[in-house]
Amino acid sequence: MAFSAKQRHAELCAELHHHNHLYHVLNRPEISDTEYDRLFRELLDLEKEDPQLATADSPSRRVGATPLTKFPQYQHALPMLSLENAFNEEELREFDARVRRFLATDKQIDYVCEMKLDGVAVELVYRNGRFETGSTRGNGLVGEQITENLRTLPSVPLVLQAPYPNLLDVRGEVYMDIADFRKLNRDREEEGLPVFANPRNATAGSLRQLDSRVTAQRPLKIFCYGLGRIDGAQLTAHTEALEELQDWGLRVNLAETHMAKGIEEVLTYFEEVSSQRETLPFEIDGVVVKVDSLALQRELGEKTRTPRWAIACKFAPRQAETVVEDIQLQVGRTGAITPVAHLRPVEVSGVMVSRASLHNWDEIERLGIRIGDRVVVERAGDVIPDVVKVLVDARDGTEIEVTAPTLCPECSSPVRRLEGEVVPRCQGMSCPARRKEAIKHFASKAAMDIDGLGDRYINQLLRLDLVEDIADLYTLDQQDLDRFERMGDRLAEKLLQAIADSCHRPLPRFLYALGIRHVGVHLAKVLARQFGSLEELARAGREELLAIHEIGSQVADSVISFFAAPHNRETLDKLHAAGVVPQQQARLAGGPLSGQTFVFTGALGLFNRKQAQEMVEQLGGRAAGSVSKKTDYLVAGSNAGSKRDKAETLGISILSEAEFLQMVEKMKPS
Ligand code: IVH
Repeated sequence: MAFSAKQRHAELCAELHHHNHLYHVLNRPEISDTEYDRLFRELLDLEKEDPQLATADSPSRRVGATPLTKFPQYQHALPMLSLENAFNEEELREFDARVRRFLATDKQIDYVCEMKLDGVAVELVYRNGRFETGSTRGNGLVGEQITENLRTLPSVPLVLQAPYPNLLDVRGEVYMDIADFRKLNRDREEEGLPVFANPRNATAGSLRQLDSRVTAQRPLKIFCYGLGRIDGAQLTAHTEALEELQDWGLRVNLAETHMAKGIEEVLTYFEEVSSQRETLPFEIDGVVVKVDSLALQRELGEKTRTPRWAIACKFAPRQAETVVEDIQLQVGRTGAITPVAHLRPVEVSGVMVSRASLHNWDEIERLGIRIGDRVVVERAGDVIPDVVKVLVDARDGTEIEVTAPTLCPECSSPVRRLEGEVVPRCQGMSCPARRKEAIKHFASKAAMDIDGLGDRYINQLLRLDLVEDIADLYTLDQQDLDRFERMGDRLAEKLLQAIADSCHRPLPRFLYALGIRHVGVHLAKVLARQFGSLEELARAGREELLAIHEIGSQVADSVISFFAAPHNRETLDKLHAAGVVPQQQARLAGGPLSGQTFVFTGALGLFNRKQAQEMVEQLGGRAAGSVSKKTDYLVAGSNAGSKRDKAETLGISILSEAEFLQMVEKMKPS
């Protein structure tokens, strides 16, 4: 039995690796997503029964692992060099002349041209065909070890296709497609999180996560373009290396790799790529030109940090100069006031831009930007550009400085900037801008999904004083809507029906709709699953919230203060009275530990706190931080102190780590 489970597990791993490779590396899947999911579930089931099967290269490990407290350093066996840049044709020709002078030849050189992806350079080490270590380039000699994060990328093979070298260092660029980047930012905006400035920053931020489960959620890809150590394969040309990399299962941008005989062909290719740049699915900032012959590469050798056999031909940045006509303040749902530069319209590589995000007040101070300033704007991966520089020398003294607001531009309420936050926030509960954004959010698709309730009607509702808060939506009637401009009976009826239809949305949607800071779609689901009803959540204490795996102190505090605020309680009561009662949710509980609260204390040796918490939660129980009358079990490691004393006084069962494990093992579904 055990043997056949092991065998089936190995078969599933091989099959899943194969289909993963077909889908994510070769882009030609052979089975449907459903079929893939079925195989994946079978794998997970086997691993649940026998956790020892979940080895480091199991496809199940792509979901991420236990968070780290910091990234260890990683010394690259061979340095990861960087490239010299050529910014124009002349500099590129000089490079070719240098190469030929060094090799004392007047023959044409065969060059390989690759797209220069704008992402984050990494190294993957494979030993005996298995992914062993992944790291960032860092300073070229020492980077950070981000193995668990890189393991989550579907295009990073966990095992290589045979025959492979015994030892292989692969170099490549991790990046994010522009469409994926935009979606990520849209989602973040919805969750009230800061957005990334461009795909490169999004990639870097995603790889820098100490919790690889976060990285696993980010749409990262890799293209491999080079080697470090290689043991057990003889290669003669860079193009051959690229093909081998592809054969071993790594993702290589071979379709866009071009052989150029001599520098003239390189220049033609560069022009071609420049004209394609805007239509590519990812950001590139140039073309990398490499001498193809590895023998010639060796002969040319390298300078301190850059090889003599390669160069990066960079595109001119997508920048333009224009004038800041105004800096306006936008007030969001949470009261966040963000500055936006209104620009004299200017074309930046084919796109007209008239606004630039200034992000926050720190950014304004850093730039020293004033109304009337001439500025350089740059488009980097998104249509909304950034102001990258103020042309201070172009000032004539008429420019107007802007200062952070002390009063809200919409309602004149005082503005406050909380410690550690980059944006000032309007504190006015009845600020029309905040109310408008709050209603818009409440009605949005992912929230209460009130069809038809968009900007236009919300503006009228507020102007006519028909609603003060979201609860007032549910007491609107036909007579109220008669006062709307251009709203026929049928439309009014439809809108009222849409509002009525939203009365019993599922709890996660309702929680998300309330706009509790930091509670986006995902955390709303987590909270709903954990507490089952609005009432239970409203009653939850800080410790109880913190005991939930994905909830940190920022979210816990935000939930607590939301339910503590009298005006929110009032709105919730009004909603309830108007018949808005979300569907309750089956609680995560129902497991064998349902209703049981565990506290872990002392130095744990057999598992860490997060793992312990996960084990408890998986079985439907809760892990809390402090001992109280509500605690059912205290699991005490060595040197347990005051918590143990308190548990003893309260007569709470005390378990050793081993006893706890035994208990958990017995409860696992067989
Ligand atoms: S080759 C010695 N090829 O550009 C060879 N680099 O400074 C060194 N990059 O850090 C790199 N696409 O992040 C190479 N096709 C490509 C590349 C590429 C992007 C990045 C990489 C490197 C930087 C060069």
